[in-house]
Amino acid sequence: MSADHEIENLLQETRHFAPEAEFVAQAIAKPELYEQAKADRLGFWAEQAKKLHWHKPFTQVLDWSNAPFAKWFHDGELNISYNCLDRHVLAGNGDRVAIHFEGEPGDSRAITYAELTDQVKRAANVLLDLGVREGDRVAIYMPMIPEAVVAMQAVARIGAVHSVVFGGFSADSLTTRIDDAQAKLVITTDGGYRKGRALALKPAVDEALSGGKCPSVQNVLVYRRTNQDVNWVEGRDLDWTEALAAASPEHEAKGFNAEHPLFILYTSGTTGKPKGILHTTGGYLTQTTYTHKNVFDLHPEKDVYWCTADVGWITGHSYVVYGPLSNGATQVIYEGTPETPDWGRWWSIVEKYKVSILYTAPTAIRSFMKLGSSIPKQHDLSSIRVLGSVGEPINPEAWMWYRDVIGSGKAPIVDTWWQTETGAIMISPLPGITTLKPGSAQHALPGIEIKILDEAGTELGLEHAGLLVITEPWPSMLRGIWGDPDRYKETYWSRFEGKYFAGDGAKFDEEGNIWLLGRVDDVMNVSGHRLSTAEIESALVSHPFVAEAAVVGAKDETTGQAVVAFVILRQSQLEAAGSDADVSKILRDHVAKEIGPIAKPRQIMVVAELPKTRSGKIMRRLLRDVAEDRPIGDVTTLTDTSVMDIISGKIAGGAND
Ligand code: WT7
Repeated sequence: MSADHEIENLLQETRHFAPEAEFVAQAIAKPELYEQAKADRLGFWAEQAKKLHWHKPFTQVLDWSNAPFAKWFHDGELNISYNCLDRHVLAGNGDRVAIHFEGEPGDSRAITYAELTDQVKRAANVLLDLGVREGDRVAIYMPMIPEAVVAMQAVARIGAVHSVVFGGFSADSLTTRIDDAQAKLVITTDGGYRKGRALALKPAVDEALSGGKCPSVQNVLVYRRTNQDVNWVEGRDLDWTEALAAASPEHEAKGFNAEHPLFILYTSGTTGKPKGILHTTGGYLTQTTYTHKNVFDLHPEKDVYWCTADVGWITGHSYVVYGPLSNGATQVIYEGTPETPDWGRWWSIVEKYKVSILYTAPTAIRSFMKLGSSIPKQHDLSSIRVLGSVGEPINPEAWMWYRDVIGSGKAPIVDTWWQTETGAIMISPLPGITTLKPGSAQHALPGIEIKILDEAGTELGLEHAGLLVITEPWPSMLRGIWGDPDRYKETYWSRFEGKYFAGDGAKFDEEGNIWLLGRVDDVMNVSGHRLSTAEIESALVSHPFVAEAAVVGAKDETTGQAVVAFVILRQSQLEAAGSDADVSKILRDHVAKEIGPIAKPRQIMVVAELPKTRSGKIMRRLLRDVAEDRPIGDVTTLTDTSVMDIISGKIAGGAND
């Protein structure tokens, strides 16, 4: 295959970390998992599914006759909330802490499985009293507090469908999502604590519903978290605490078909309209439970697990609300931001609860790295034994820092690749088996089949970058886009016949490890060479001057596209180097040295912040607008919309070389 069809990926990583004998001896996942799944993939998934409680056992594993619309375990019946709650209480684990909640102001609560079950049963009865029935949609717009978990579990328990909208989204986004799903009920709070302040949420709900914009909504259930004043619509609004106190604590969970819809979660696509990704019950719970246990090596009787994701994202659904509770884990939920009251907050939480498994995103890791090791080193992090990463490629430098500083130089890191659409982890090392390689997500999990193809659909060998596809259906796969089956087929199944196209570039290295190279829309073509944005970013952040970097391809008359890099500098390193250092030249040369002259950025733009979505993804689309000197597009999903004004103002002012 010709060079211009390849994504050049020239960084070489040679470090390896084999699992320690002590870890291997106690590991949940054993090498046989790979063999079993290889010998009989569907049988393997059936085995995993049978670890759940089925109200009615399934006899069929997969029905793919109506591809790409899959049915898994479709003649079985189960209740997801029963699996996450009642079964642990019935097994004698009612006194185990399910949630250690840490509020941002410093309040804390420990909630046992018995207590959580009681709350969910009461909330289920409240929903039933409000007329919510099987299949009805309920929008949830809440901060990161235990009641958000209770709300999701209660909706699922009665067979209704939740649509969680991240609390950072605006009233307009909320209207669009409520309306698309035709939600009957909204569950919210007066507000929540963020950056030391009580932030209001209820006004956004009032605004979203105002002027008859969402006629499907009949009631709003409000939990009072901050006790700030709220507008109250008589007859529509109900107080959560009063309603739960008055509700019966008895609720028998009935079984629903394995393919009963569980939730809709909106995610951005290439067009402006968000896609409502639909997940169903049995397959989703099977794969979230299996991956949570095996990838994180969860020993529920002794581990304390903490996933820092908000329930507004898929990671919060799969690895806060469903996987961990299904496995009977004890987990930490933290309401606030990492810098409140100071940047030591996360590490004091780890120390306080003796967190043993920590799952977070590279963007967070790099923020901490930027501030230096001295902050985490003020805390006892020795309880940590497994670290996880998700959301974007983790560059080897951040990986090493994560392992050395947070993982005491020995905790295995599981770099987990998956998507809102895949529902659960697909590619990841297994910590007691895999010899780790910093920066690589390494291998498809047992039960998952992936390939890397060129544009024409031909399978590529080692060291050739191409497009990542999933070649066999998997239990937690999306079942469609809400209300838009054609968009589902078109987006994911039309590029390569019968295969799921993930939208990511990837390659196998010389040892067969998978490297994710960023979204294919984040791939540039420079002088006929395809370069990955992720790779150049990784090269940039490997330089001591750079704290964070985002790279885009901008149109260029000579080379087709040119590399434009936006960087945040580390002030301390810069000062040490002296004020007359030519940062731009140094970094351009550094990239040329790390990857090759082809990857040398045309421009380095020094910025104070990068435009990010609330899930921490850099919005390259906006940076591309700046780099190509176009008016800046829609910024409504940015955490801080002023960032773009500052960046574009600075560049218009000609601050660069
Ligand atoms: C996209 C999916 C999965 C939960 C959070 C994001 C990127 C995700 C990794 C990883 C490299 C990753 C991919 C993917 N991504 N994890 N470990 N290494 N890239 O969910 O918002 O649906 O985004 O995130 O590009 O396609 P999402």
